[in-house]
Amino acid sequence: MKTKHHNNSELCRAIAQRIAATPQQRITFAEYMDLVLYHPQQGYYSSNQVKIGKEGDFFTSANLGADLGELLAVQFAEMWDILARPTPFTLVEMGAGEGLMAADILPYLQKQYPDCFGALEYIIVEKAPGLKAAQQQRLQNWPGEKVRWCSWEEIPPLSVTGCFFCNELLDAFPVHQMIRENGQLREIYVTIGRDDRFIEVIGELSTPQIAAYFALVGINLTGDNYPEGYRSEVNLAALDWVKTVASSLRRGYLLAIDYGYRADKYYHPQRSSGTLQCYYRHQRHHNPYLNVGHQDITAHVDFTALERQGKLCGLEKLGKTQQGLFLMALGLGDRLQALSTANMGIERVLQRRDALHQLIDPMGLGGFGVLVQTKGLSERSQAEPWERGARSLLGLSIP
Ligand SMILES: C[S@@+](CC[C@H](N)C(=O)[O-])C[C@H]1O[C@@H](n2cnc3c(N)ncnc32)[C@H](O)[C@@H]1O
Repeated sequence: MKTKHHNNSELCRAIAQRIAATPQQRITFAEYMDLVLYHPQQGYYSSNQVKIGKEGDFFTSANLGADLGELLAVQFAEMWDILARPTPFTLVEMGAGEGLMAADILPYLQKQYPDCFGALEYIIVEKAPGLKAAQQQRLQNWPGEKVRWCSWEEIPPLSVTGCFFCNELLDAFPVHQMIRENGQLREIYVTIGRDDRFIEVIGELSTPQIAAYFALVGINLTGDNYPEGYRSEVNLAALDWVKTVASSLRRGYLLAIDYGYRADKYYHPQRSSGTLQCYYRHQRHHNPYLNVGHQDITAHVDFTALERQGKLCGLEKLGKTQQGLFLMALGLGDRLQALSTANMGIERVLQRRDALHQLIDPMGLGGFGVLVQTKGLSERSQAEPWERGARSLLGLSIP
């Protein structure tokens, strides 16, 4: 396998072996993306070389300071109230990166909402071993009965009363890539070309789940309104994830923050080359076969799929909003205002103001979607006092 110097050559060899072991000498794009990002030893996320933050390839809201975590903590405390203050109150953070959000949420709950903190157990589900180690290091001072790590399989069915939540998890799931060819829906596979580089080939759909996905979201890419060569992604892993979360949730919430669109916008005929993006040292491009193992690959999230799959799995949509509005409703505006009288140097004030503005910028992080789904809330009697607020949440109210 000939590789350019900025590819991870061991990873390229592992992918090439995987391809060579298949009967048709090809793997789906989703398998390729899964290996590139999550190969247990060499994958971008697994191999300790993912760097999230200003010095890395990309950054998330969690890198902008404690505000996201702390404002989420406000929301979790309200959820605990609405759920009638259960013990344990379980928060499950899925895909925790370097553990920044947990490190912001835990002390804030402890200080501002000690009763809620007393009832809290915080579970992290993290796929990448290197990131899990970084999280454990960062959170080492929290006792094991407060914070622990579980695999998906270790969370028993109907065991969680509380909230499953994630920030930028779903955009990091491997996606299948589809293309319209001769009026048919076909799939992109990855194979090895003559010069030993990874190249794409087009073939039949690898699984009937892809057609089922489009039926679920009500999109027909073979319709007359779509051009030949139209290409996009399907996140089947997100459907499995909704199913897994729904089956573990006894009573409470699923809160997902990510960038994406409703299905009609996601699969708009003019979005003809999909949403796949690669990030390498803060540069964005569209070639997933460059910098293999050294760059992030992401796709936008189809919120319609999450909502409809949720419904099939017993989750009710409570609301969908934008991150900017969500955080404003939870008190980000007060934080901005407080800066004008804050007792800190001007540089620090400007830096804080910039971070808060970035979190709510509708053209950036503030435009991310926040989807909240629930389970088991409406079963409770309307007469019970905690039920009063159950139909809504502070973060979903108009700020
Ligand atoms: C883009 S990072 C976001 C990290 C963090 N939430 C933040 O906001 O900075 C995606 C995270 O999800 C993790 N991840 C991806 N797929 C996962 C899965 N199936 N189960 C658990 N974690 C997963 C990655 O390893 C990584 O920690």
